Amino acid sequence: MNPNNYKKALQHAIFPYITEATELLNLKSFVIGGFVRDFILQRGITKDIDVVAVGSGIELAKKVAQLLPTRPKVQVFKTYGTAMLRYQDVEIEFVGARKESYTENSRNPEVSVGSLQDDQNRRDFTINAMALSLNKDSYGELLDPFGGIADLQSKIIRTPLNPDITYSDDPLRMMRAIRFATQLDFEIEKGSLDAIHRNCERIDIITKERIVVELQKIMESPVPSIGFLLLEKTGLLERLIPELTDLKGVDELEGQKHKDNFYHTLEVVDNIAPNTDDVWLRWAALLHDIGKAPTKRFDKKNGWTFHAHEFVGSKMVYKLFKRLKMPLNNKMKFVQKMVLLSSRPIVLATDVTDSAVRRLIFDTGEDLDSLMTLCEADITTKNPVKFKRYHNNFKVVRDKVKEVEERDRVRDFQPPISGELIMETFNLKPCREIGQIKDAIKEAILDGEISNEYNQCFEFMIAKGEALGLKK
Ligand code: CTP
Repeated sequence: MNPNNYKKALQHAIFPYITEATELLNLKSFVIGGFVRDFILQRGITKDIDVVAVGSGIELAKKVAQLLPTRPKVQVFKTYGTAMLRYQDVEIEFVGARKESYTENSRNPEVSVGSLQDDQNRRDFTINAMALSLNKDSYGELLDPFGGIADLQSKIIRTPLNPDITYSDDPLRMMRAIRFATQLDFEIEKGSLDAIHRNCERIDIITKERIVVELQKIMESPVPSIGFLLLEKTGLLERLIPELTDLKGVDELEGQKHKDNFYHTLEVVDNIAPNTDDVWLRWAALLHDIGKAPTKRFDKKNGWTFHAHEFVGSKMVYKLFKRLKMPLNNKMKFVQKMVLLSSRPIVLATDVTDSAVRRLIFDTGEDLDSLMTLCEADITTKNPVKFKRYHNNFKVVRDKVKEVEERDRVRDFQPPISGELIMETFNLKPCREIGQIKDAIKEAILDGEISNEYNQCFEFMIAKGEALGLKK
């Protein structure tokens, strides 16, 4: 078989219909972009198919829809000159090939109808500019004018044109370069990396939502630090998440140093990645120490301190999410909670008492496992003896949690004494004392003074009420 023939990639039932429609309209059409790249990388067949027509993409989409037995609806995006339809399990987007020409007087490109090669020139990376013919006479043939296959083999991200032009066409591509490098474990070609550095300020014109899509993909990758290091190196991170770049550096005073919290943080994110697919827990790992920059102090007696950095950090999470237009919902609250509680198990690991464990279970609720996963990832010491000791300590905490939980059922803590019962017993109308009694019962349970069951709690309520001067 012709090594340039990739018919095998075109097994989906949609393709013969596109070919037929292309013939009927007397056009040319090609599959391009991620579908081709991912087929060659054997990443599994992509469900998003991009088709470029040399002619009108919208007309082609409409003709395909007419031919398909399901007669799917065609969604037309006039401003972009694109159209989309769904068939079986795939989504196909049609676009007409375009070329951009820069006139001397205007810095804005004029977009006009172009050839396939014109369209390929305008794409972001060589590995995303490869096209497969859908035309009858050359069905499945690969058109790879910039050496995309070679770049896939040598694992390189490179732009088809001068990178300054490609990135200034759409500055989001700077994030995409870093995202692909992280997802695929590729290198960004030096000229391209330098161009990102040179153009990093241009990221400011991109909407936060599009940026966050790329950040999430970096975060979901097997080794997220690849992306964050590149973001840092190119100056993008400082513009997007300065809370992280503020953690960079090691200070030394009177012979005392603290660790570089930026690199430590990236290690924690890489450590947690194999243990969780929950992207929000990964965010918690990324942000768990952001409170350390504003709380750093040097104390003659204690050396470097970061007093209350967990609390300060959890407040910073809100501002950061808001600035990046990330959802201010339960997910954000979860990240805040993880940051706030991120030192609790470490403290516990040195002194595991029943009541401290009970309080931890009570405060974390259903997120205790996530918190333990975060704290285990936080162990980045290079000293093997300490590494082993810390991990053993956490194992003790986990065992203790299991034991206390089975015994005391604190995780879904439902106090056996309700506000109504307190009101009834002491003949009260709603008042402050009810809350005081309920709190005292909760504290007594957590401290292990009484157990989490009705009789003991009832007796405790009577005693507490009487101490407050209430009468039965
Ligand atoms: N593209 C581009 N510049 C962009 C975005 C996309 O040139 N800023 C082109 C690339 O050729 C890309 C294709 O449009 O392959 C489709 O884009 P998209 O669906 O966003 O990405 P994929 O490459 O398919 O990859 P992924 O699905 O992983 O995002």
